[in-house]
Amino acid sequence: MNQIKSGFSLRSLHISFRFVVPLVIALGLLAFAVVPLVDKLTLQWFIRDIDIRSSLIANTLHDPLVELLQQGNKGRINALLFRTIQDERLLALGFCDNNGTLLYRTPTFPVSVGCTPATSQDKEASPLRQLPQGAVHVAVHPMDNYGSLILVHDMSFVERRSADTRKYVIIFFVLLGIVISVITVFVAHLSWRGWMDGVRAMLRGEGILKPFSQPAVASELQPLVGDLRALLRTLDAERRFADDATITWSPDSLRKLLHKQLAGERIIVVSNREPYIHSKKNDEIEVHRPASGLVTAVEPVMRACSGTWIAHGSGSADRDTVDGHDRVRVPPHSPEYNLRRIWLTKEEEEGYYYGFANEGLWPLCHIAHVRPIFRTSDWREYVRINQRFADAVVKEADSENPVVLVQDYHFALLPEMIRTALPKATIITFWHIPWPNPESFGICPWREELLKGMLGSTILGFQTPYHCKNFLETVDRYLESRIEHESSTISRRGQLTMVESYPISIQWPPPWQGELPPVEKTRRDILTVLGLPSDQLLGIGIDRMDYTKGILERFTAVERMLELHPELVGRFTFVQIAAPSRSALEEYQAFEARVHALAGRINKRFTREGHQPIILKAEHHEPEEVNRYYRAAQVCMVTSLHDGMNLVAKEFVAARDDEQGVLILSQFTGAAHELHEALIVNPYHVEQTAEALHQALTMPEFEQQERMRSMRAMVRDFNVYRWAGRMLLDAARIRQRERLAVRIGDNS
Ligand code: F6P
Repeated sequence: MNQIKSGFSLRSLHISFRFVVPLVIALGLLAFAVVPLVDKLTLQWFIRDIDIRSSLIANTLHDPLVELLQQGNKGRINALLFRTIQDERLLALGFCDNNGTLLYRTPTFPVSVGCTPATSQDKEASPLRQLPQGAVHVAVHPMDNYGSLILVHDMSFVERRSADTRKYVIIFFVLLGIVISVITVFVAHLSWRGWMDGVRAMLRGEGILKPFSQPAVASELQPLVGDLRALLRTLDAERRFADDATITWSPDSLRKLLHKQLAGERIIVVSNREPYIHSKKNDEIEVHRPASGLVTAVEPVMRACSGTWIAHGSGSADRDTVDGHDRVRVPPHSPEYNLRRIWLTKEEEEGYYYGFANEGLWPLCHIAHVRPIFRTSDWREYVRINQRFADAVVKEADSENPVVLVQDYHFALLPEMIRTALPKATIITFWHIPWPNPESFGICPWREELLKGMLGSTILGFQTPYHCKNFLETVDRYLESRIEHESSTISRRGQLTMVESYPISIQWPPPWQGELPPVEKTRRDILTVLGLPSDQLLGIGIDRMDYTKGILERFTAVERMLELHPELVGRFTFVQIAAPSRSALEEYQAFEARVHALAGRINKRFTREGHQPIILKAEHHEPEEVNRYYRAAQVCMVTSLHDGMNLVAKEFVAARDDEQGVLILSQFTGAAHELHEALIVNPYHVEQTAEALHQALTMPEFEQQERMRSMRAMVRDFNVYRWAGRMLLDAARIRQRERLAVRIGDNS
């Protein structure tokens, strides 16, 4: 205990030094600046004093001197002057006639002074003179028409006094420094002890576990209480469940959670994009998985939980594969849940999906410098289609309090619509994309309607705490509601919504784990398919063809890297897989054209022996194929200009069971908050990204392994089952609290 205490006082001393050292430096600099200033000021004061003194002496001498001058009594004039200089400071006196001849003087009168001061026209000239015996002050006073009296004062005392003043100023600053340091150390020590006691009290749960009790914690620590409470809540909820489930979150633990905490409730997921798309190809029906982070994340959760997934049926053979209730069992080869399809006309899709969701909300939430477009006709479709999905939820629900998982910006109005039809439903809304600051969001003409719609949710999830903060501030700005920042809740018209960050993830273990050929073989195969030599270095980028993904910036960085490191020209190839996306929109068509043009220009510059530096594959690839590229590449580039999470980053990490490969990751992705061992870049900074690419290509194996191992542990521990589990646990807790409230209400 003593050891801990002395550790603490040493630490408080250490903290004090952090204050004291800059303080001493600041005081030293101040003293350094102040001393010459004080010197200058004191000199001015002395000159002024001596000027006054000179006038006084001259005035006193005036009458007797004039009288003696009239008499022409040389002996008495000299005696008068000599008597006067008995004064300690007055060094010498002289009398010059109007022609500048020195008629009388005391023996001490410096010859070099002469009569010049009396005849000089320069009234501004300094009265100080530097003589071999030291500095003197020379004053001239006219004596009627007879001439001028010249008074010479000794100034050597000024230097002595300046030295004294300097000494006192320095002593003053040293004492000031000592006093302030002692007070600082004392106060820092007391505060340190106070903070430590406060934090210890918090860790004991005082003032934290009882939110409505009197604050037991010092007021300056109050901001921490909310954070700690949220952390404890999460840990406690997870621990309570994980204790009797498994350490690592898995499909099994999710199933157990549903069974134990949510009474086996079937869940309903709503998203725009469907997890399986059936399309016709030469009279055959094919099924494929869309390029969508949302689907990548939610599909394994659905397989674990079963239930119903409601989504837009967008495939050309979708209608041919559903039953009479527009349902189809999926996954096609081992069905585990229902996919309920909603049909949209071309006009509805244009207004709700392409228009309001993707020309309005998408650029609004992603700050990627594309102007959002808001049309009233699109908004009307958005409202209508949200209502259609809400009606489908009500039809699919088999109880009055189903658990509904609403996905993304296509359905901001859905939570309130479901709440109206099913007031007891547990509605978990997850916003996959960023949430902007209130000013940016404020340009949306239907901002209040969107916010009210979202606040129909029981839980509102965002990717990062920063997006949560932006959302709370947006609601604060535009809606009348009560916001509790400490518990991160919003209450409006009796509806309480918990706003929390749940960083989304991917399934772990990753699909095909253990079934895949070794990385070396996959790399050889891919290089052969691409017609590249077996020692070619490979980079990979996997995205939808979307302007938020930073594909142009990425290509420019590849180009810059080849300029800076010409030894890699012909030795490095970057494969960009860009799945076609929202191609009906002009913005996306223009973007695709720019991507092709840039790749073409760079290839023209750097193609050697038929090997292009950029291979652009602007077509859909199934997840298995994408996974092969992840495994074959030396480096994966994720350079989004803004991204809620970006699951490509996590998929690359999960694919690398050889613990090799380097991830370059944009700082503007949610993933950058979790995958710290990636090479984090600002994609707008071309040089930096180019250097990161070179660093990745030349990184020693042991460093790759260290970074990759740590990232894999992160993705394993924070997998998508944990993401869903955390939300469901929070939902279970809220349901339990609501049930309790009803029971208490019934009994009272
Ligand atoms: O990030 C938002 C999101 O819904 C992702 O889940 C997904 O990657 C993407 O948009 C899909 O876009 P779309 O469904 O328009 O093809």
